[in-house]
Amino acid sequence: MSVILGIDIGGSGIKGAPVDTRTGQLVAERHRIPTPAGARPEDVQEVVAELVRHFGQEKGPIGVTFPGIVLHGKTLSAANVDDAWIGLDADALFTEATGRDVFLVNDADAAGVAEVRFGAGRDVPGLVMVLTFGTGIGSALLHSGVLVPNTELGHLWLKGDKHAESWASDRARERDDLNWKGWAKRASTYLRHVEALFSPDLFIIGGGLSKKADKWQEHVKLARTPLVPAALQNEAGIVGAALLAAERSRSGR
Ligand code: BGC
Repeated sequence: MSVILGIDIGGSGIKGAPVDTRTGQLVAERHRIPTPAGARPEDVQEVVAELVRHFGQEKGPIGVTFPGIVLHGKTLSAANVDDAWIGLDADALFTEATGRDVFLVNDADAAGVAEVRFGAGRDVPGLVMVLTFGTGIGSALLHSGVLVPNTELGHLWLKGDKHAESWASDRARERDDLNWKGWAKRASTYLRHVEALFSPDLFIIGGGLSKKADKWQEHVKLARTPLVPAALQNEAGIVGAALLAAERSRSGR
């Protein structure tokens, strides 16, 4: 089974598409449903089931991302969604709602896997860090293509008592009405901190603003690490979710 449905649960939209896991290409147009207000489990579960019905695939595993820590099918944090997700067996919830075998993964981890397999991190040796800037800041750490899951580096604290995600996310840019240069200055402070801690070989910047790299990229100043926008942009989560579901269902994990 090489075509697998990937679903990406985000703060503002829940998006899905069937993915050819051999090429990383979407095989049908992406479908997006706005995230229900409050992002409560029972409402999100309904949207996920609706997306599955939309694509009409009757069989096969499904990959689903979640914007929080995911450990052995349970969701353990909920920075930008309802607190009822904390400690929930979300894997069981989605499996019940869809009648399908569901594989759940953190959203940034899914994006990281997709970028390293088919995007801007392809064939890059060493340590690749994918950071997604959106409602929050997500992080994925991959060494020689192997993912270290749930790194949660958006929740680092910076000098001056600044919580990285609350200060440098794309939502913070909009909230504080920053121009691109102003946002890039904050992002640079954050990225330099991460750079000093991890010494990556490459930073890949994902999330909605990866499409607008011409506006901010020249203003981001780091000590030494090359930085590129995500190649798969907003599709990385969908693609990564499908890839991981394919692998895990093959290996029975
Ligand atoms: C969450 C991460 C997530 C990121 C991007 C953060 O608030 O803690 O798990 O990857 O937002 O959605």
